[in-house]
Amino acid sequence: MKLHYSSASPYVRKVLVVAHETGLIDRIELIPTAVAPTLVNPEVAAQNPLVKLPTLELENGQSLFDSRVIAEYLDTLHNGRRLFPAEGDQRWTALRRQAIADGLLDAAVLIRYEHFLRPEPQRWREWIDGQFRKMRQALASLAAERFESQLTIGEITAGCALGYLDFRYPGEDWRGAHPGLATWYAGIVERPSFAATMPRG
Ligand code: BEZ
Repeated sequence: MKLHYSSASPYVRKVLVVAHETGLIDRIELIPTAVAPTLVNPEVAAQNPLVKLPTLELENGQSLFDSRVIAEYLDTLHNGRRLFPAEGDQRWTALRRQAIADGLLDAAVLIRYEHFLRPEPQRWREWIDGQFRKMRQALASLAAERFESQLTIGEITAGCALGYLDFRYPGEDWRGAHPGLATWYAGIVERPSFAATMPRG
């Protein structure tokens, strides 16, 4: 399998953490890839009409995207404990946590695009403020989740979202606002899968 990836992308990181946790990392060839809303990338477009990372090329010629789909696919390829619980409360809790953390990331990444891609006179302050509100509401919602030591796609996505805040928003004092979440994060970030995938770039 080939994974089009960028070491700065938190969505790619989610997939890489899953690959480490499931023992599949050695079956994945990493292809460094640059995409942005303003860039044309015909190679990725041939695999993924949305031209986004992560995109996974399978050995049968098909491709999979986005991070949720790739992560769930990888979870079908191993014999260990499932990161996507099959049913019941455990499944919906994991998927809810994933949705909150992905939404936090979507807001954080959109703010970054607005600051770094859009020319200054075209930036829209109220829109940026709205995305910050979503980001902070999502943080408060993650803080209200009762994370346990059991690892699912919910905890993995939450860990990647908090890591992205540290990476791109170092001035955001989320630890001060949510000390319980900070304590939980200090534990998950020690896992080898998180240590091996720290964001760079
Ligand atoms: C970033 O550089 O912050 C970034 C890169 C890829 C996807 C999302 C964010």
